[in-house]
Amino acid sequence: MSVREMLLKRRSVRHYDVDYQVSIETLSSLIEAAAKSPNGNNIQATRYLVINDPILRNQMLPVAFNQQQVTEASALILILGDYKAFEKENIIRIHEQGYQAGYFTDQLRDYLASAAIDYYANKSLEELKIELVRDASLAAMSFILLANEAGLETITMSGYNSYLLKKVLKIPDGFLDIMLIAVGKGVKSGHQTVRHEVNEIVYLNTI
Ligand SMILES: Cc1cc2nc3c(=O)[nH]c(=O)nc-3n(C[C@H](O)[C@H](O)[C@H](O)COP(=O)(O)O)c2cc1C
Repeated sequence: MSVREMLLKRRSVRHYDVDYQVSIETLSSLIEAAAKSPNGNNIQATRYLVINDPILRNQMLPVAFNQQQVTEASALILILGDYKAFEKENIIRIHEQGYQAGYFTDQLRDYLASAAIDYYANKSLEELKIELVRDASLAAMSFILLANEAGLETITMSGYNSYLLKKVLKIPDGFLDIMLIAVGKGVKSGHQTVRHEVNEIVYLNTI
């Protein structure tokens, strides 16, 4: 199926086969590919907390306003941003890895690393948050398409209490919770949804 066909077919699915299990190996392989998505300066700030423990999932139910997919889907993935990724040491390490892999010269390594360090140096917390959300969103969509390709359905969720989520999942400071994705075998297709006509959302040269 082409990417276009997959995008047209995809729906947010809210009903899942409770007996269907998706292995951690399968999820890791989907995440591994999703992590190839573009990300600012390749600092790789997106993290994926896979939640398949039934006790934790039950605890997550009230956190996510009793949305049934939290317990019924095979797994929940919490997409997080890691503020540590902006640290100089991480940026240098990643560019060193690229150099060691033979992907660029030492000159390019140093240029890219210092450009990335400078880029983040004077950003406010709000701006860094946007960076995290931007990168994570691209990876999240890749994950959704990869899951669909593997015959699985998903639903993205921001309908949860962030404070309680961090408490239940014991998320350390320094991580931004960005979205939940439930993944599993759908038993009821998601309802169809409308979209604006393309001429309502596209502007040419000026808005
Ligand atoms: C960031 C984000 C958060 C969402 N949160 C929820 C949610 O908490 N609960 C829910 O039922 N759907 C949620 N959705 C799904 C949207 O309602 C859905 O994508 C939209 O209605 C379009 O439907 P479709 O995905 O089937 O095309 C969310 C989607 C996104 C992208």
